[in-house]
Amino acid sequence: MTDITDLVDIENGQLNGQIFHDQAIYEMELEKVWRRAWCMLAHDSMIPKKGNFIQNFIGEDPVLVVRQKDGGVKAFLNQCRHRGMRICRFDKGTAKAFTCSFHGWSYDLEGKLVQVPHQEAAYPESFDRADHSAVAVPRIEYYKGFWFGTWDEDAPPFEEYLGSAKYYLDGYIDRWDEGMEAVAFHRWVLPNNWKYMAEQPTSDMQHSEITHVSAASVLNKASDAADRTLRGKEPKGRQFFSDYGHGGAWFGLKGAEVPNTGKAMQKWESEPEVAAMVERRLGDNREVRGHLNIWPTFMVLGNYTIRVTHPRGPHEQEVWAWTFVPKEAPEEIRDSIRKDVLRTFTPGGMFEADDALNWEEMQQVLRGKVARDSGFSYQMIGAPIEWDAECYPGGSSAHVFSDNAALNMYSNYLDMMTSDSWDELKAKRAEHRMGAN
Ligand code: FES
Ligand SMILES: [Fe+2]
Repeated sequence: MTDITDLVDIENGQLNGQIFHDQAIYEMELEKVWRRAWCMLAHDSMIPKKGNFIQNFIGEDPVLVVRQKDGGVKAFLNQCRHRGMRICRFDKGTAKAFTCSFHGWSYDLEGKLVQVPHQEAAYPESFDRADHSAVAVPRIEYYKGFWFGTWDEDAPPFEEYLGSAKYYLDGYIDRWDEGMEAVAFHRWVLPNNWKYMAEQPTSDMQHSEITHVSAASVLNKASDAADRTLRGKEPKGRQFFSDYGHGGAWFGLKGAEVPNTGKAMQKWESEPEVAAMVERRLGDNREVRGHLNIWPTFMVLGNYTIRVTHPRGPHEQEVWAWTFVPKEAPEEIRDSIRKDVLRTFTPGGMFEADDALNWEEMQQVLRGKVARDSGFSYQMIGAPIEWDAECYPGGSSAHVFSDNAALNMYSNYLDMMTSDSWDELKAKRAEHRMGAN
């Protein structure tokens, strides 16, 4: 395998196509990225009652995420310790225990092995069920309605991992007193590398003025970006990024007229008491909605599709997308948000179809050996990087169109791929802080 450091050239803004194609690199990602990063496991509204569970994934590893009797959440590998069968074959449900459908080993809600058929008659006394619990996700943390997990015991606490992305994430998920809930779910498989999708909400707002111009005009969405471009004007907006690869961008600025969310949400949030609630909770955060990605693939889009994408080999990804609505919003607002997401960012949604076409074509071109060895440009870095500017924690640039956040994402990716521990990774990230050296 080619050395990964030859494929990711942050200094010159060049990436080699192999990182989106090569099987050996993908295997390394499973070990170095997915086994180390914090990943979203569930939201409270997906498993509200004791015994509720969903099957989710950390990378390619299936995990059962289960609401415990004490109200907490635990997660464990959905793999039977007997012969490796998937313990639970349902995507979600309610259980008192999980019994493997191969030979009948049973696990409790924490993943402890509690029953083995014929144990007394057919197993030696030395056989101890306690040695065969399902593999636990060792670190789980709760953050504002969401449960996150990592396989790496040495990972920093989740809030430290978020870093300055916390400010922007809060702008989406911490706006309303009663919180939010998932009301719809779509999942689909795309024939392309997972990083294509991760990169987009992290950094690439510029494609929207070209890729999505037809859909935007049909949907009567703000096609201002394209209009401005045709008039030779630059859009207002900003992009941010933080140390561990997170990033986001949005059109407009605080208090600007250019909306980042659907019309229904804007209408509801413009009601005086709702506006006051949002301002009380967030202060300056309130207008910084657009697109956001918490590395590797926890994505939040301004119209409240919140999603993860699971890697499925170098050439495939499986997208899991939930529509979230404010719990306390009136039903017509909630319904309108749900329909807006349905029209735009679901498998049949118009923006989603636009994006999927690009990624599929990019992946297919990479079948060619010459294509695979060519380089891709990440050189749109004209906007200067500011660190911890007023109202904008983290690194940010005062232009919504920039590759800074993408480069930061791939810089973090390279550091993860070349580090053997979180300590090593932390040291590299401090050294490689974009725009600070
Ligand atoms: S594989 Fe699960 S009981 Fe045998
Ligand atoms: Fe897009």
